[in-house]
Amino acid sequence: MKVTFLPQNVTVEVDAATLPYGEHGKRLSVLDIALNFGIHLEHACGGNCACTTCHVVVKQGDANLAEMEDDEADKLDSAPGLTLHSRLGCQSVVTGDVVVEIPDWNRNYVSEKPGQ
Ligand code: FES
Repeated sequence: MKVTFLPQNVTVEVDAATLPYGEHGKRLSVLDIALNFGIHLEHACGGNCACTTCHVVVKQGDANLAEMEDDEADKLDSAPGLTLHSRLGCQSVVTGDVVVEIPDWNRNYVSEKPGQ
């Protein structure tokens, strides 16, 4: 299956059988895959569904992500910039081709440096 990350427009081919688990978020989650391929996705709570910094917006392939569980839905409710296609990267397990966008508020958050 293929996962595309925007705005970088990087597509990675994921082999579910061989992808090593990086211990952040659910195995084969958007976060797990991003970190395996060196794509920066914030994960302040370490992938434990306790923050919203791994928020992504699904552009294509909603049906190829495992259904949202209650704890993810509860957490997302407090996410800034919530959309109908928002998911927590660490909780959304990929089961087929998807395109996800890392929202710019998260990118700004990432690039902010103290004193700037
Ligand atoms: S990394 Fe904190 S909720 Fe996903």
